[in-house]
Amino acid sequence: MLILGIETSCDETAAAVVEDGRTVRSDVVASQIAIHSPYGGVVPELASRKHVESILAVIEQALERARLRTDQLDAIAVTRGPGLVGALLVGLSAAKAMSYALGIPLIAVNHLEGHMQAAFMGRDPLDRPFVCLVVSGGHSALYLVDRDGRGDLLGCTRDDAAGEAFDKVAKLLGLGYPGGVVIDRLAREGNARAFQFPKAFLEKDSLEFSFSGIKTSVANFVRKHGPPPARGQMGVYRLEDLVASFQEAVVEVLVKKTIGAAQARQVVDVAVVGGVAANRRLREMLAEEAAYHRLHLHLPEPRYCTDNAVMIAAAGYYVWRRQGFCQDPLEVDAVSRWL
Ligand code: KG4
Ligand code: ZN
Repeated sequence: MLILGIETSCDETAAAVVEDGRTVRSDVVASQIAIHSPYGGVVPELASRKHVESILAVIEQALERARLRTDQLDAIAVTRGPGLVGALLVGLSAAKAMSYALGIPLIAVNHLEGHMQAAFMGRDPLDRPFVCLVVSGGHSALYLVDRDGRGDLLGCTRDDAAGEAFDKVAKLLGLGYPGGVVIDRLAREGNARAFQFPKAFLEKDSLEFSFSGIKTSVANFVRKHGPPPARGQMGVYRLEDLVASFQEAVVEVLVKKTIGAAQARQVVDVAVVGGVAANRRLREMLAEEAAYHRLHLHLPEPRYCTDNAVMIAAAGYYVWRRQGFCQDPLEVDAVSRWL
């Protein structure tokens, strides 16, 4: 079963062909980072326009790299939500047009289910329940995922998403966008114990998150001690120590809550997915803690952590196996929220 996946929920225009939900035949991602970078975050209107400009070329490239003609495709899987509606509409419209013109079925995919699928690329998804932490620019949530791939929400963030906290802290330190990657790299040269930032564990056993407090603490730190010195320079403090300490506090909360959720739900498998799952320190601490608690850890390859269409085509295959194709492809609408 050859599925063309299309993803345009945020700031990546992506298309990919995946065979039987597992074998990647092509993977094309056109990033809009350069366009949004001057604004320190994604500008929805610019994102939609850029998707319109790129979508056809990206789809053509995905087919070319897979050495396939359109008439060899079996179905099209497309992200329906959650995401920016104007951005989602571009991918969805392209998918509907192709489905109609080629007479092939459409599969509407939940972006978060796509992220979850990324942890199992190249092999069958688990046939037992697992706890999944989704951490991206728009989401920080824990799910209990059943053997059919359906997620039951255990807890989500009350304010900012973890990736958003990375991006906002990077912005206030003048480090550029997207902040996660920059902070990840800089933190490797810093002392994570240099400063104590608040770790929001909330109430006992809570599986919810809150990251707006730590962002404010970093802002207060800079107000008190002055703007950060340049990279590699020693001022009143080191930039590397500041970002390493911030990152450590965020990572510790994410890891402890994920392990706590697995223990509370008595499952032995945990998956961590989404853009922030690419973070080196998060992967390292998760590996240590999972081994200590005898849990099986499932992490996507770093390139499948951030938005891509491989995960959408792969998830589409399992959505089709579970519930079949969309009955009325032209009626599918884009949705900004979809838990
Ligand atoms: O999954 P994703 O590509 O898009 C959303 O669905 O939101 O995630 C993007 C987010 C951004 O906030 C970015 O700063 C963060 O993931 N991110 C990282 C890293 N790479 C990307 N955060 C921490 N460390 C990283 N290495
Ligand atoms: Zn995403």
